[in-house]
Amino acid sequence: MSDKSAPSQCLGPNYRAEGEKPTATVSKKVRHDNVHVLPQTPQLIALLTMIRDHRTNRADFIFYSNRIIRLLVEEGLNHLPVIQQEITTPVGRHYNGVKFEGKICGVSIMRAGESMEQGLRDCCRSVRIGKILIQRDEETSQPRLFYEKLPEDIKDRWVLLLDPMLATGGSALMAVEVLRQKGVPEDRILFLNLIASPEGADNFAEKFPKVRIVTAFIDEGLDEKNYIVPGLGDFGDRFYTL
Ligand code: PRP
Ligand code: URA
Repeated sequence: MSDKSAPSQCLGPNYRAEGEKPTATVSKKVRHDNVHVLPQTPQLIALLTMIRDHRTNRADFIFYSNRIIRLLVEEGLNHLPVIQQEITTPVGRHYNGVKFEGKICGVSIMRAGESMEQGLRDCCRSVRIGKILIQRDEETSQPRLFYEKLPEDIKDRWVLLLDPMLATGGSALMAVEVLRQKGVPEDRILFLNLIASPEGADNFAEKFPKVRIVTAFIDEGLDEKNYIVPGLGDFGDRFYTL
């Protein structure tokens, strides 16, 4: 992951010839089986372009972030187990389908992770949601754990861990440690994330190879303050306060 150059790709439907399509920077590839990057569709890249733009106001930032969050949740749900289910349709025919198996819950890493709760609720009615308050020190970038409140039976659930930004990986690693101490097996944790740095994704995937990460984009890297670049700035500030 030491290569800093960002890949570029022609984007758009096939009614335009390849040479006439616009090019855009797309996600870096990852070499870990447990990291799943969303397909780099024109739609996703347009949504990311909106939220990355420093001119985007807070209302638009929330709106377009929510759309990406919805894509992440929908993809995340594909990683949950299903069992076969045959049903009968209103016209009396059988359909051989599936249904989800097992209990789930969301866990948000506060503050920014809370922005992803509604997207999860929109897809999973009355889903239980736990909270872990971890804050990154602005000088050292080291995470500090302040608080956790989790469903009592969390060890029996699949956990969708929510945080839009994975920079050094310190906060997400700390959150997974908290979940493990509560008895949640690594392979029942899905981490949903908007933008990751290559360093953070590597760090996380190597430490917890059984935790699945579903992310919209692996970015170029980190700057001297451990902000993701090109990134989108401080997600929590842009979603909640700016
Ligand atoms: C941000 C972000 C992650 C963390 C990522 O939160 O939401 O939790 O930083 O950085 P890391 O991978 O280097 O740990 P922050 O602590 O700034 O708090 P916030 O949610 O209140 O914005
Ligand atoms: N937290 C953010 O919100 N953005 C970054 O780039 C890094 C940490």
